[in-house]
Amino acid sequence: MHVRDAVASRFSCRAFLPTPVPLATVRELLDRAARAPSGGNLQPWRVHVLAGAPLEHLKALIRPFAPANPRGEGAGYQIYPDPLKEPYYSRRGEVGALLYQAIGIPREDRPARYRQYARNFEFFGAPVGLFFSIDRTMGPPQWSDLGMFVQTVMLLARGEGLHTCGIEAWTHWHKTVSAFLALPDEHLLFCGMALGHADPAAPINKWRSPREGVDSFATFRGFDHA
Ligand SMILES: Cc1cc2nc3c(=O)[nH]c(=O)nc-3n(C[C@H](O)[C@H](O)[C@H](O)COP(=O)(O)O)c2cc1C
Repeated sequence: MHVRDAVASRFSCRAFLPTPVPLATVRELLDRAARAPSGGNLQPWRVHVLAGAPLEHLKALIRPFAPANPRGEGAGYQIYPDPLKEPYYSRRGEVGALLYQAIGIPREDRPARYRQYARNFEFFGAPVGLFFSIDRTMGPPQWSDLGMFVQTVMLLARGEGLHTCGIEAWTHWHKTVSAFLALPDEHLLFCGMALGHADPAAPINKWRSPREGVDSFATFRGFDHA
């Protein structure tokens, strides 16, 4: 697969088939993703991968509480600035509206939205759940490195015919996850990631998030020819 097609075909998949993904595939994805660049080559990423019984065990710990309690244990870090200024606020609202519209949940149906939100903590049915963490002493540059690593995993997954969804919602259960994974105190959980085979029939996988065009975020100077 051309890298262009890996980028173009990646989307946040929120319904997976139960088809397993072999350990060797996941190991190789992560090993290759470690070619991602990082400032000073710090390679500040840490990953925990769950499948099978441990994955089911963790999901079962959260399941009784998630649908009624979207904020869980309180976030381990602030996901968005508060207040979130424009145009970011509107973009976030738009993608949320599109998601719930795709599965026929009206904005005012809060219990239904919470039930769907709880699907985050099922890894949307994926057979593999990954958790990405970083040493608490690391700052924005290293968080950026971690993000590049996460994206590289996502693109390499496309090369294997697999799909992913980043899940920072997991920070709302950071205490349970950290204890379950026996994360050392110096590690901060960043996000989860669902990995597996997309369910192509699921309505939630049938819409795509919008993007601004290049002229909205880039300026170009010094090119002689158009
Ligand atoms: C680090 C990260 C964390 C994310 N966390 C969540 C999440 O908790 N739940 C979710 O449904 N989507 C999550 N997303 C997906 C974003 O909403 C999605 O990337 C964005 O709306 C653009 O859509 P696309 O990925 O389909 O192109 C996350 C994405 C990233 C990169």
